[in-house]
Amino acid sequence: MAKLAINGGKPAVPKGIKRRWPIYDGAEKRALIEVLESGRWCSRLNPEGRVAEVEKEFAKLVGTKYCRAVSSGTTALELAIRACDIGFGDEIIVPAVTFLATATSVITSGAVPIFVDIDPESYQISPDAVEAAITERTRAILPVHYGGYPADMDRITEIANKHDLFVIEDSAEAHGTEWRGRKVGSIGNIACFSFQMGKPLTCGEGGAITYDEEALDVDTFSLTRTMKTPRGEKTCYLPTGNWRMSEFAGAVLLVQLSRFKEQTEIRHQNGEYFARELEKIEGLSPLKRDPRITKQGYFFYLFKYDSAKWNGIHRNHFMEALRAEGVACGTAHNEPLYQNPIFRDIKKSYLTVPDVDYASFHCPEAERIHENEVVAMLNHVLMERKSVDQILEAIHKLRDNIDELKSSGSEVKRNSRTRGLRSLVQRVANNIAQV
Ligand SMILES: Cc1ncc(COP(=O)(O)O)c(C=O)c1O
Repeated sequence: MAKLAINGGKPAVPKGIKRRWPIYDGAEKRALIEVLESGRWCSRLNPEGRVAEVEKEFAKLVGTKYCRAVSSGTTALELAIRACDIGFGDEIIVPAVTFLATATSVITSGAVPIFVDIDPESYQISPDAVEAAITERTRAILPVHYGGYPADMDRITEIANKHDLFVIEDSAEAHGTEWRGRKVGSIGNIACFSFQMGKPLTCGEGGAITYDEEALDVDTFSLTRTMKTPRGEKTCYLPTGNWRMSEFAGAVLLVQLSRFKEQTEIRHQNGEYFARELEKIEGLSPLKRDPRITKQGYFFYLFKYDSAKWNGIHRNHFMEALRAEGVACGTAHNEPLYQNPIFRDIKKSYLTVPDVDYASFHCPEAERIHENEVVAMLNHVLMERKSVDQILEAIHKLRDNIDELKSSGSEVKRNSRTRGLRSLVQRVANNIAQV
């Protein structure tokens, strides 16, 4: 009789992993009602309001002199690029593996993203690849702390200093992550964060930039305010959109901030536990455990699958079997971005990108990892130790029944990302329904 759920057996986690996110209570409700009843919903007209407070608190948390709260992580990125006065024809080096907005915001700022490979140990931008990609047009390096794991900020800073480049940290997924005791978002010249609903700190939609240099503050401040001050001074120096955060979002975020430290610690401890347990399982491993990472925040929990040690069973088949056991997983946004039609077919679009043929890009590690190795889960599984234990139980079940897994007739498709994501979304939807 079949033991594995993929063959009709009973799933290890019949109801799926419980999703505890977003977390809120009466404090958020009261904060929202207060803003509602105050009649002051707009942050521009409320300089002492919730958004102003968020800016103070978030700067303190990250350890920078300044913070500006904006409407999303995408606008934060655009703002950060423009604040550095980077634009037409300038090149920005970005990792091939990240969320689309990292690279599209470079384009919407008028600059050119140059994709480079990732480090196979950490899945983060490879400093060697960065160095090899520098040209006379390069103005900035845009490391992404992908999944919450920090990029190698020692090497990135060294390379940037040597070549006089800006470092713009995309910390959209890495709230709370520390590199040598410093929060990411405080190490480069300027950084962006996202507070979209799946992020470890959220107000539904929102973002922020953090930085220390006053020169960036002047530009950034003017860019977030598109109208005249009450005294009639013009504060907008460049044509731009309205990227402000509303007081409602600020109110929710302030309460969420008060829970953040404890939640980060829970994710960190459960992430460490997950890593130690994965190390004991043949053919699976966590990302490199680097002592320079003094605290790890998470957007995804990413780990590595080695099919050679699973009797040649393809990673996609392993994930399919794991999903059948009740554990949502996929490859997250690991597809190298130059393969995405936005970039691959960019010459057919209205966007003007000087002389770059993304279809000819090739980052071997990024491609190999996406096709065969990475397994990703949403960070919510780290909110409870029980969830990690359930995932481990399901994985052990597959390992203990490896012959059945190998012989199970499911067709292995080399790239089942779409299928994987659909299943992930479905599972998340199911989980929401259960909470
Ligand atoms: C790495 C990265 N950069 C930028 C963004 C954009 O943030 P937002 O969705 O708030 O616009 C995201 C969002 O998922 C992200 O993961």
